[in-house]
Amino acid sequence: MRVLSGITTSGVPHLGNYFGAMRQHVAHQEQASEAIYFLADYHSMTSIRDAGERRRFVRTLVLDYLACGLDPARAILFRQSDVPEVCELQWLLTTVTPMGLLERSHAYKDKIANGLPVDHGLFAYPVLMAADILLYNANLVPVGQDQKQHLEMTRDIATKFNLTYGEVFVLPEPQILDDVAVVPGLDGRKMSKSYGNTIRMFDDEKALKKSVMAIVTDSTPVEEPKDPGAVVFQLWNLFATPEERREMAERAKRGGLGYGDVKKDLLARLLATFGAMREKRAALEMQQGLVEDVLAEGARRARAIAQPILEAARAAAGLGASR
Ligand code: ADP
Ligand code: TRP
Repeated sequence: MRVLSGITTSGVPHLGNYFGAMRQHVAHQEQASEAIYFLADYHSMTSIRDAGERRRFVRTLVLDYLACGLDPARAILFRQSDVPEVCELQWLLTTVTPMGLLERSHAYKDKIANGLPVDHGLFAYPVLMAADILLYNANLVPVGQDQKQHLEMTRDIATKFNLTYGEVFVLPEPQILDDVAVVPGLDGRKMSKSYGNTIRMFDDEKALKKSVMAIVTDSTPVEEPKDPGAVVFQLWNLFATPEERREMAERAKRGGLGYGDVKKDLLARLLATFGAMREKRAALEMQQGLVEDVLAEGARRARAIAQPILEAARAAAGLGASR
């Protein structure tokens, strides 16, 4: 069983990334026979145009992963652009990808709806993502709910390639954790680096407090009943047991509970949950060369898996010298 996933290095990771992805990634390193994770810096090019910033975000994410418990001796952790073979595979896949498939992409349609500029890179993003997965013949891809469509596209593209040139690729299965689904951001939309509505778990206490206080609430007075589905409760629920969630929903519906109190408790839980990881992260950050060493070793191992699979795809498609 080969598990693979990636995170776009387009900003500082947030609670959505942690609960929707990173936490599962760390858990998988115990269970899967092979766990492969990468920092999707090619993908970040559709939104980040500053070279220095791109490098900083990769470094940040590596430290965050390590702080969250990712063990590079067990899982493979690498930088996407260190295995440029993925771009070649993307081209091969592009030629079997129907336009209509890409035109239906939510990510592309959402960016347009949000008035963000769209270029060909963004349009072709799902094909690069398919290449990321197929280049390693991954069996299982743990991701957040928002990536489900991309996984369906990957399966469609792999099927198309296999039908055209012969069985080269394994069809990957998505793994989506239902109890988290989509983590909402401060403004109630999906928490996302591109919306600037995130809670960044490794921020210092002051910044975390500011974020928590900025969670949208309505003007329901303290004594009135509250909607247990409000954003602040959804976020609080991430840090609570099922039993605590039930109690909190009851208290919300009864009235007499202020949003301020829920926010205070949420902040305390945030600090408690990430406190030890923050300390570990600070220690890792002091280790000279650690990040690049981890990435170099990760790339070496990733490449050893990728190269024969790319070679099989090239040969099937009649590229290069005949053997
Ligand atoms: P962002 O939207 O902030 O750019 P990414 O697209 O890089 O985040 O997502 C990386 C991983 O984190 C993916 O597996 C994605 O499904 C998950 N993820 C991102 N945001 C959320 C969210 N708000 N809720 C749940 N999972 C999320
Ligand atoms: N598109 C994913 C995201 O934004 C990141 C990603 C890129 C990915 N390639 C991947 C996730 C391959 C899983 C597998 O969240």
